[in-house]
Amino acid sequence: MAINSSTSPILLLALAMILAISRTAQANDPDILTDFITPNTSAVGASFFTYSGLNGIYNPYLKNFTVIKASMTEFPALNGQSVSYAVLQFPPAGVNPPHTHPRAAELLLVIMGTLEVGFVDTKNVLFNQTLKEGDMFVFPKGLVHFQYNKNHIQSVIAVSAFGSANAGLLSVPKSVFTTGIDDNVLAKSFKTDVPTVQKIKIGLKN
Ligand SMILES: *[C@@H]1O[C@H](CO)[C@@H](O)[C@H](O)[C@H]1NC(C)=O
Ligand SMILES: *[C@@H]1O[C@H](CO)[C@@H](O)[C@H](O)[C@H]1NC(C)=O
Ligand SMILES: *[C@@H]1O[C@H](CO)[C@@H](O)[C@H](O)[C@H]1NC(C)=O
Repeated sequence: MAINSSTSPILLLALAMILAISRTAQANDPDILTDFITPNTSAVGASFFTYSGLNGIYNPYLKNFTVIKASMTEFPALNGQSVSYAVLQFPPAGVNPPHTHPRAAELLLVIMGTLEVGFVDTKNVLFNQTLKEGDMFVFPKGLVHFQYNKNHIQSVIAVSAFGSANAGLLSVPKSVFTTGIDDNVLAKSFKTDVPTVQKIKIGLKN
């Protein structure tokens, strides 16, 4: 169909809405037309729907922030089910740097300790909170967020649920400073000089 000046405005509005809806749909996991998706046609048992990869993962001696995921890569039965988990362990003073999940909202539950969290919306407003054991916080889909254990003695453990089997991760420091974007582009964008950009890049290599 050709769109020209005689095309009715209502038709145009309808087309625009269809486009908007199909765009929204692309940012969600696909609906599947079967009960579940198996990697092959052989019969699967209950064990296919069971994942034990998070058993006994708590490590009180961790030195660095650690994420252990149970997404569709680790647990193939999640394919098509639009859910997944990650367990986050923060050593004393550990931080999960600003990042986004392009395909899912994140619902975080603090299991042990006290955790500083926050996200920034598209108006650049920061929403931050101090969560204690048993508190939940939702990070809206696609928005930049972080978590920080400001306690220098105790560890924190949190569990995050995602509304996607493959939420995706885009770390702000890494995606901006470790992917080969030209130093001049970064210096201009961050309103600083090239040596400062290079210093940040070196720091992120470790
Ligand atoms: C089919 O999938 C099941 C469950 O993942 C697996 O145990 C089995 O080895 C697979 N068979 C073939 C032929 O790939
Ligand atoms: C923790 O991170 C530091 C710096 O990134 C790294 O050198 C070290 O190997 C890591 N330690 C462990 C136990 O992963
Ligand atoms: C939010 O962050 C600011 C620092 O940017 C801090 O002073 C404030 O206490 C935080 N609010 C909560 C509720 O944690």
